[in-house]
Amino acid sequence: MKITIVGCGNMGLIYARAFLKYNIVSRENLLLAEKNEARKQELLKLHLGEVCVVNDKRISESDIIILAVKPQDFNELSLDLEHVLNNNIIISIMAGMKLERIENALNQKFIIRAMPNSPAELGMGMTAFTSSKSLSIEQIRKAENLLSTTGRTVFFENENLLDAVTALSGSGPAYFFYIVKQMVEAGKQMGFDQHTAEILVKQTMLGSFHLLNTADKSLDELIKSVASKGGTTEAALSVFNEMGVGVNLQKGIVKARDRAMELSK
Ligand SMILES: NC(=O)c1ccc[n+]([C@@H]2O[C@H](COP(=O)([O-])OP(=O)(O)OC[C@H]3O[C@@H](n4cnc5c(N)ncnc54)[C@H](OP(=O)(O)O)[C@@H]3O)[C@@H](O)[C@H]2O)c1
Repeated sequence: MKITIVGCGNMGLIYARAFLKYNIVSRENLLLAEKNEARKQELLKLHLGEVCVVNDKRISESDIIILAVKPQDFNELSLDLEHVLNNNIIISIMAGMKLERIENALNQKFIIRAMPNSPAELGMGMTAFTSSKSLSIEQIRKAENLLSTTGRTVFFENENLLDAVTALSGSGPAYFFYIVKQMVEAGKQMGFDQHTAEILVKQTMLGSFHLLNTADKSLDELIKSVASKGGTTEAALSVFNEMGVGVNLQKGIVKARDRAMELSK
């Protein structure tokens, strides 16, 4: 297998490391196409693969090419890349960049559009992806094998759902950190220092996540199991409900989906 990663910033590097970790590709067969000079020097020191420029002819031999540049850099990139492509499978992780636009700009038909999230760095990411109509099941499986080196994957035939994915799992880590932050702030208001409040909250979130993942109970049952009638948890939950915390969180997430739709136009 030969792979090229175009744009080796945060996400590009995560994929390079994950592919090597799972022996998907050897260092000799991994091309890292990067234009930023300082970044190139860093990549050379890391010895993860062959560092090259984006119009390097060797790219045309790649089975799979990952596009991990920022969406605003795609136009410029496409002018260089178009000449070295040769019906390769192209996986774009550019947020909001539609399949049709990539197909037209690159004049290629085997395109996968994927939306990963930041826990990919730990191999615990959630990636949703979709593909152009021309890809065979075998090509889709090949791409999925690569994407799943960073965590779980789910395939959607309907590309429009990727905007909702962006709002739910793409931005999701930030919502989680936001809620953790509110809990830590409440802890500080009640007299704990930052460090102690963080320990209390982080371990609570970790343990609760594992309960959620292993207990044979619905979310409502899990909430009920902590909130006894007239007790402390119920006091908190009734304030959340009165203030519309849950409903407003949902509204925020739908707004993120709407923004993703706007940006991908
Ligand atoms: N970070 C996330 O959590 C996340 C999640 C989902 C999707 N994504 C998507 O992943 C993509 C990459 O994000 P990132 O955070 O990894 O960005 P990043 O750190 O800025 O990395 C992009 C790299 O590509 C380089 N580059 C730009 N134009 C190029 C070209 N024509 N040829 C070769 N290299 C080029 C950039 O150089 P310069 O710095 O000189 O421009 C930079 O080193 C984005 O499209 C983003 O939407 C990110």
